[in-house]
Amino acid sequence: MQSFRDEIDNSIRARITLLYIVSLEEESISEQLRALCRGSDLKLYRWDHADYFQLLAGDGGVPNAQDPLSALSAIENINDDGIFLLCDFHQCWQGQPRVMRKLKNVAWKLKFTRKTMVIISPVWKIPEELKDEVVMIEYHPPGLAEMDLIVSSLTSAPGIRVNLTPLGREKLLQAALGLSSNQARRIFARSIVSKGGLDERDIDLVNAGKKQIIRDSSALEFFSPVETIGDVGGLDALKHWLQTRKKAFSVEARDYGLPEPKGITLIGIPGTGKSLTAKVIAGLWKLPLVRLDLGALFGGLVGQSEENTRRALALAEIIAPCILWIDEIEKGLSFSGGDGGTSLRVFASILSWMQEKARPVFVVATANNISLLPPELMRKGRVDEVFFLDLPSYDDRKEIFEIHLRKRRRPIQNYDLDLLAKTSEGFVGAEIEQAVIDAMYKAFSDRDEPGRDFTTHDVALALQQQVPISRSHKEIIDELRKYLSEGRAQSASNRHALRESM
Ligand SMILES: Nc1ncnc2c1ncn2[C@@H]1O[C@H](COP(=O)(O)OP(=O)(O)OP(=O)(O)O)[C@@H](O)[C@H]1O
Ligand SMILES: [Mg+2]
Repeated sequence: MQSFRDEIDNSIRARITLLYIVSLEEESISEQLRALCRGSDLKLYRWDHADYFQLLAGDGGVPNAQDPLSALSAIENINDDGIFLLCDFHQCWQGQPRVMRKLKNVAWKLKFTRKTMVIISPVWKIPEELKDEVVMIEYHPPGLAEMDLIVSSLTSAPGIRVNLTPLGREKLLQAALGLSSNQARRIFARSIVSKGGLDERDIDLVNAGKKQIIRDSSALEFFSPVETIGDVGGLDALKHWLQTRKKAFSVEARDYGLPEPKGITLIGIPGTGKSLTAKVIAGLWKLPLVRLDLGALFGGLVGQSEENTRRALALAEIIAPCILWIDEIEKGLSFSGGDGGTSLRVFASILSWMQEKARPVFVVATANNISLLPPELMRKGRVDEVFFLDLPSYDDRKEIFEIHLRKRRRPIQNYDLDLLAKTSEGFVGAEIEQAVIDAMYKAFSDRDEPGRDFTTHDVALALQQQVPISRSHKEIIDELRKYLSEGRAQSASNRHALRESM
């Protein structure tokens, strides 16, 4: 693959005079361009609306230009060969046809010189008039090998301790992926200064650094899940699928030739553990978990929702490898106040991103009303697998009771799990948990013996007093099960409840 620097270099040689880089990483891009200019006899200028012209590589003065038109004239007239980095220039041509025209003219005139303009902006916003003039260049943050070089260079001085196993080092480097070289260098350096070296504790530090980046987006939220795979009862097929992909994002898997998994869709009856599973994957795979809040994407102005979406997804790529959790994805289709067009467009852009994303972001989408969902979301290829979470089977329910009794620090031998599994036929995990909690309240506030421990009988009674959703909304379950019988989803459990009589 062509490196970023080669790509710029080749574009300059091909006399492409207007390049556009979509990135938040001005600093590290400037650094790369500076290195490129130093290796040739090019100067590097930077212009932005606040500080105007600055010289980043080469010697000499800078033109005085405080507005975009004068800046473009200065670029046109300057005698030096060089790269002109224009920051946030997409804001300069908005509603300014003269700026747009001038940019076009200058781009054309520069073809006969060795001058190149590079626009760097966090958003891809090119008006029709300029589309033919502009070439977009992708900037990928440093990869594993480059991160390794950064760590090596920072720790090469005598006296600096590196207390990492080969796997620990790989995890640390992987956690740092998505950061710019400068950001990574800053985080590592801070650790080295405070602890005299690097060790596995720095993985958390790096993740904390990434959280800082995420704070910029209101639509993304960092989760620190505490749930483990042991907290999920049943769903053995789904758990097995996840276990076999535990090392899916490691170098070992890449060397072996495995592709990175793209994502899964979890559909099913409310309360069967879809959200729980999403949280568990992050812990199991040791990847950061970020939740995309679909509601927060929708903004008032025209085009704003699409832009918010693009930004949030780009941020997810910055912190990749990570898990992007899109909970209740079908609800996203009903936001944006009656304007079905916007939510469909936002949806379409999420779907196409899922297919084209350049970085390892594993998407976990959950849904319980699939009739609202576009069929594309269910298509394998976009996601690796669509799992259907059915009502838990007898054995699953036993396991779920065990989990929730243990969670409340009760010895399971004190309870008749078989009786509870039998009594809870048709109940989902969330309802089972609720029955345990109801029983606890009842015993805790018992009239004759307040604070007594709760018994199997209390739980069984609580179950009988609840109408499970499988009974109150049988049609939802039938509808969802159609997906399974039509082969459009895989069962999350090898021993699902279809086989039991309902
Ligand atoms: N399979 C399970 N094993 C153990 N606990 C479960 C299971 N399913 C659900 N629970 C309990 O119920 C709670 C709620 O489940 P969760 O939010 O994951 O359901 P969901 O499928 O996402 O439901 P919804 O469709 O309503 O969002 C979980 O936090 C967990 O305590
Ligand atoms: Mg949920």
